[in-house]
Amino acid sequence: MGFGKITHAVRMMSLANAFDDADVAEFDARIRSYLNLAADAPLAYTAEPKIDGLSLSLRYENGRLVQAATRGDGEVGENVTANARTIDDIPVEVTGAPEVMEVRGEVYMSHADFAALNARQAERGGKTFANPRNAAAGSLRQLDAQITRARPLRFFAYSWGDLSAPLAATQTQAIERLRRLGFRTNPLTRRCDGPQDMLDHYRSIEEQRATLGYDIDGVVYKVDDLALQNRLGSRSTTPRWALAHKFPAELAWTRLEAIDIQVGRTGALSPVARLTPVTVGGVVVSNATLHNEDYIAGRDSRGEEIRGGKDIRIGDWVQVYRAGDVIPKVADVDLSKRPDDAEPYVFPTKCPECGSDALREPGDAVRRCTGGVVCPAQAVEKLKHFVSRAAFDIEGLGARQVEAFYTDGWITEPAEIFTLEERYGRGLRALKNREGWGEKSATNLFRAIDEKRRIPLSRLLFALGIRHVGESASALIANHYGTWDALEEAMVAAAEPGQAREDLTGIDGVGEVMATSLTSAFANPAERASMDRLVAHLDVQESRRAVAADSPVAGKTVVFTGTLEKMTRAEAKARAESLGAKVSGSVSAKTDLLVAGPGAGSKAKKAAELGVETMDEDGWLALIGG
Ligand code: IVH
Repeated sequence: MGFGKITHAVRMMSLANAFDDADVAEFDARIRSYLNLAADAPLAYTAEPKIDGLSLSLRYENGRLVQAATRGDGEVGENVTANARTIDDIPVEVTGAPEVMEVRGEVYMSHADFAALNARQAERGGKTFANPRNAAAGSLRQLDAQITRARPLRFFAYSWGDLSAPLAATQTQAIERLRRLGFRTNPLTRRCDGPQDMLDHYRSIEEQRATLGYDIDGVVYKVDDLALQNRLGSRSTTPRWALAHKFPAELAWTRLEAIDIQVGRTGALSPVARLTPVTVGGVVVSNATLHNEDYIAGRDSRGEEIRGGKDIRIGDWVQVYRAGDVIPKVADVDLSKRPDDAEPYVFPTKCPECGSDALREPGDAVRRCTGGVVCPAQAVEKLKHFVSRAAFDIEGLGARQVEAFYTDGWITEPAEIFTLEERYGRGLRALKNREGWGEKSATNLFRAIDEKRRIPLSRLLFALGIRHVGESASALIANHYGTWDALEEAMVAAAEPGQAREDLTGIDGVGEVMATSLTSAFANPAERASMDRLVAHLDVQESRRAVAADSPVAGKTVVFTGTLEKMTRAEAKARAESLGAKVSGSVSAKTDLLVAGPGAGSKAKKAAELGVETMDEDGWLALIGG
């Protein structure tokens, strides 16, 4: 039993991060370049605290709260409407709002309420929470809304999703409008004139951080003008008009007790520090990443010094840090406290899981197990990745379960998930005696597996766990090729130089390294056979952005040339791609349309020779609807 799923009407985005002043200046410069604004043209932003809680989307129809959903993976969240209604800061009715209005913001718990809740829980022998954010998440995700009601949750509104009418013309006015509608908005939100002003406000918020009474982990900057936000649009998961400037990570010193080697799904040997437990920013840390072999040795793959060339030895005092959700990292070592008998660490050259040689390619910082499919660690990690939230996300089949099924030999590769019922089925009975399983949970599992036979191409591609191919790259690639068959055919063809290869590396965000990783995966007979066995059980949904279907340029290959006057090249490209067009840098027989501004030269000539339809910028704008 869990919460129902809700598909967000407008995707819930995450934020690009900045860690220093230079990143903020670059953000401003990037936006100016995208919008073709001079360095001295006025451009206002807002700056506000980044609340360390969990985001929530509230949908109001005709002034009534009809739905509340967690972020989930950004596209699909969980229905927590009953729980949201119990939160005092969330109005159940509003007057004077657009007919449809989705208000977004952060659910959090104050320090005082968190301490009191933990004390209460401890007294009753209940679960205590590591930090206010976990307490807020645990309290919101209660199946019994009465429990949520008893938990002191708060809410700040800072954004919106679906709207039947705009809230205002600027971010500042929109936030003010939300405030007047009855939402709590953060009093430290300011309008700023540019990077210097933003950084001043960042420092001021940082100074007040300890006395705010709730956790914040940075400052969020947003372009104030909503028309400009709209023009800037989004990359796959983050808007171009916003930036999260994170506070420096918290640090602590502790002893390194041991170094373990974990083997990942691509065979990478990752050293993990086992530490004497220490509290870092309110969380107890007992493991931290040591990155790779060179990092322990104190030199990177180019031989340059890390931490002044100090190596890390078992028994050392090391400094660890945590930045937000990120895995803790070892940052430094205190040589003055090194035990006399501490020996330099010798990195293994055999896989600790399967005994195969572990090799380093020239220029690669990572040592990898060469065992491939025979390495159980790689197989298990691939399966865990396959069922993870951004991949197949099968309810009831998490990391723990696939690991157990793998150990028993029931599931050794992804395709076998989809034949589990067939093979062990009546497996219902077989599962009955298994720990944690009963007839009902087994039936639910098979249903959950069946539900995922229909899968979007982007998720399938991400789930395959091909090195370098992350979630957003998978989405871009899937959008480009559309279907599994087209993708497979293209990956085979793109192994060799030529049109298919250029087409692949022409996708924004796909470089040579990723392209080679993709084509090698499809060229590997064992991997390819495993993919084919998997796809035989699936109904792969075509990946094209929804807007693409009814756009006149969907599926067309477009080339821009000459000077564009109403938008920058980057903007034109992003806009065309968001409408489902492919944008190419050169004219060929495959080009459907050339958009030529003044000064167009050889490309216009070539298009004329090939009989490619050509139009000017105004014609293009008229075609795509302004
Ligand atoms: S704006 C399209 N403003 O940070 C932009 N997000 O790292 C939507 N967050 O998922 C986000 N405080 O949960 C925005 N003042 C703030 C925020 C904020 C916290 C969270 C939010 C988001 C995450 C991204």
